[in-house]
Amino acid sequence: MLKIGNTEFNDRPVFLAPMEDVTDPSFRYMCKKFGADLMFTEFISADGLIREAQKTVKKLDIFDYERPVGTQIYGHIPDAMEEAARFINNADPDILDINYGCPVKKIAGRGAGSGMMRNLPLMKEITERVVKVSRFPVTAKTRLGWDSESLNVEEVALMLQDCGIQALTIHGRTRAQMYKGEADWTLIGKVKNNPNIHIPIIGNGDITSGKIAAERFNAFGVDAIMIGRAAIGRPWIFREVKHYLETGEELPIPTVLERVDYAREHLHKSVDYKEGMRGIYEMRRHFTMYFKAIPNFKETRLKLLTANTVEEIESLLDLIADKFGNVELNKEVANLGIYEKSIDN
Ligand SMILES: Cc1cc2nc3c(=O)[nH]c(=O)nc-3n(C[C@H](O)[C@H](O)[C@H](O)COP(=O)(O)O)c2cc1C
Repeated sequence: MLKIGNTEFNDRPVFLAPMEDVTDPSFRYMCKKFGADLMFTEFISADGLIREAQKTVKKLDIFDYERPVGTQIYGHIPDAMEEAARFINNADPDILDINYGCPVKKIAGRGAGSGMMRNLPLMKEITERVVKVSRFPVTAKTRLGWDSESLNVEEVALMLQDCGIQALTIHGRTRAQMYKGEADWTLIGKVKNNPNIHIPIIGNGDITSGKIAAERFNAFGVDAIMIGRAAIGRPWIFREVKHYLETGEELPIPTVLERVDYAREHLHKSVDYKEGMRGIYEMRRHFTMYFKAIPNFKETRLKLLTANTVEEIESLLDLIADKFGNVELNKEVANLGIYEKSIDN
């Protein structure tokens, strides 16, 4: 049975990946509702945290009902990372994760995130210092390597294990791949099955269904899997995956009426948590995904995406229930995610 620090998990646990601008408390509320076994905050800049930038500190908000939750930091300056870990000692996550996987130029280019895969001495120093001061179990998340010429995740895993991390998540792509192409799980399996690796290995990359999740567990023996993009606009994927892992059967996708209820619940959490109009703005992309498969929906979608008050959105949701409530959704269209989205700025 997987255990990270004092947190114990059921067999074959399914985690929500940290996603900048996505995994805020309202989205996590939805993922928890559908059974995510561990969730992560958006990543947090060590520099921002020690400057006590308000927006950064707010990312540390965690509510008891969502536990266990990990929080994630990134940065390339050891002093700042150590100080950030000390700062987080005053917050209350269950796990502190270090980001060694972010491919975005302004982060990786400076040597933070996946950039650290090219500077193992610095990665070692930062990890040791964070592990030393943190009062939480420290984990890390990384990729296969910088590019296809430097697939060093096995070496990285052994080193991080020596530094005292308590689990490692591996996203089966290189930095150079960003989010393109298919995730390659072979190396993830190789790390997991390395006899010198004793820490839990969490596999990540392109899990979009229960069937794929089961195949990954079976083929690579990972201790847990982590889902990112497929949960966006589809937080019920956790229920689907867990049901499949337990029974080998697929659940039907949510009906339009269920989607209306989920959208309403998500909206309320979002406006409760976010200040001003942000709670509404940030729901727009979720609405697009929730209702993507409804045919002849263009006009209603436009109204939904331009509504500026909760009342307006509420009446549009009522209208969707009335007008489209009995429509049968095409599963493939409904589950089509943002998998090709590449974040390469
Ligand atoms: C919008 C977005 C934001 C992300 N932000 C983070 C982040 O803050 N920290 C992190 O470790 N990974 C981040 N990632 C990477 C995901 O955690 C995950 O490793 C990646 O999407 C692959 O998993 P998937 O195929 O299930 O999406 C982000 C990915 C996306 C799409």
